[in-house]
Amino acid sequence: MTRRPLACVILAAGKGTRMKSDLPKVLHRVAGRPMIGHVLAAVGELDPDHVVVVVGPGMEDVAASVAPYPTAVQERQLGTADAVRAAFGLLEGFPGDVLVLYGDTPLVTPKTLRAMVEARAQVSDPAVVVLGMRPADPGAYGRLILDGGGGLEKIVEYLDAAPEERAVGLCNAGLMAFDGARMFDLIGRIGNDNAKGEFYLTDVVQIARAGGHACAVVEGDDQEVIGVNARAELAEVEALLQRRLRRAAMDNGATLADPDTVYFSFDTKLGRDVVVGQNVVFGPGVTVGDRVEIKPFCHLEQVTVSSGAILGPYARLRPGAVIGPDAHIGNFVEIKNATVEAGAKVNHLTYIGDARVGAKANIGAGTITCNYDGFGKYRTDIGEGAFIGSNSSLVAPVSVGAGAIVGAGSVVTQDVAAESLAVARGRQQSYPGWAADFRDRKRLEKAKKG
Ligand code: UD1
Ligand code: MG
Repeated sequence: MTRRPLACVILAAGKGTRMKSDLPKVLHRVAGRPMIGHVLAAVGELDPDHVVVVVGPGMEDVAASVAPYPTAVQERQLGTADAVRAAFGLLEGFPGDVLVLYGDTPLVTPKTLRAMVEARAQVSDPAVVVLGMRPADPGAYGRLILDGGGGLEKIVEYLDAAPEERAVGLCNAGLMAFDGARMFDLIGRIGNDNAKGEFYLTDVVQIARAGGHACAVVEGDDQEVIGVNARAELAEVEALLQRRLRRAAMDNGATLADPDTVYFSFDTKLGRDVVVGQNVVFGPGVTVGDRVEIKPFCHLEQVTVSSGAILGPYARLRPGAVIGPDAHIGNFVEIKNATVEAGAKVNHLTYIGDARVGAKANIGAGTITCNYDGFGKYRTDIGEGAFIGSNSSLVAPVSVGAGAIVGAGSVVTQDVAAESLAVARGRQQSYPGWAADFRDRKRLEKAKKG
């Protein structure tokens, strides 16, 4: 069967007053990505022909975030039907199916969206397919009223519902799929004669039925369509998404020692047989190869880790860190914009920034690459097999050649040639017997005073 063309309209004009934020609601992040980005990703899985995001006046940052998808501006917030009408100009004459979604329900899955689009092809040829749900607490959701044959007869908004209608458990999740050929006319006829004086998109069902068109319900999981209105719901949605991401990581062959303490980003990629210890946080942009072990309390962001590497405990991998195969990054080590090549070891209390650590090099405890002079950032290059003694400072720009050794406690300000030794510290002086003499002298002074 050839697919009908598909357009998606995402409503995001709401001000999100209850978020008490300077940031538009749909730009608040869940698992490291703005909510609207999650909705667009789900929609993208259906390969739509058009996507339009409806925003309010002055929401340029939302427009920038959803680009290259176009935005339509709803000048005043007169209700969900009015918001869909704002997108009409960009969809005029569209012949296929039109999905309407909310920008503040980031957990919706492509599977549910597909089920809605597929339901449009039922023999009854519904003009409108509505996503229904049965939440434990139906609260103030709109209620779906079915006819005797299981078709959808109308949606009543909670404020306008009679007691027997409020008793209905089947609720409007808000998402709808329309026949593009009929929706412009049907939605165009919606008025605002209701408790809130708004143009309710939900009224489209009664209008369609009155015109002899069928309407249908697809039931979905209520957790998928939790709408975020306040920060508490943002946290709830975050927790649900984390549960999904943990489950997916384990399904894909990673061991999570204590899943509830591992936090993923929407785009975290773990290889096979990766073991993740307790209390590990993945920021956006992390890719981890096969058989990597990430010990407890590590934090990673925009990092690539190759197979067989061992990280942590307590390692911080910042943007631009590239960890080679079988490399070891140990406790209290920070790596930023630096490549640590195959088999190299950076095991204790170290900062490596703007640098390369060559294959099999060994970086002693307390090594610091001094990459910043208050104005610019400079690179440190450490050759293959080099050995940096503990507590050394490498003052960039500087290089240590392959196989070279830097003596412990050195402050290296000049390049070190391959295979050579550099020691850059005060020479040790020893005075035999001095300590015993010193103590004798002090004891004598004390006895005289007493
Ligand atoms: C809506 C439904 C209700 C359903 C509930 C599910 C209507 C009339 N009611 O109610 O049946 O149970 O969602 O969560 O549709 N928006 C605009 N412009 C507007 C108004 C809203 O873009 O003028 C956007 C909002 O940003 C939001 C979405 O549309 O993303 C839904 O609006 P909201 O006010 O939250 O609708 P509800 O009252 O929750
Ligand atoms: Mg709402």
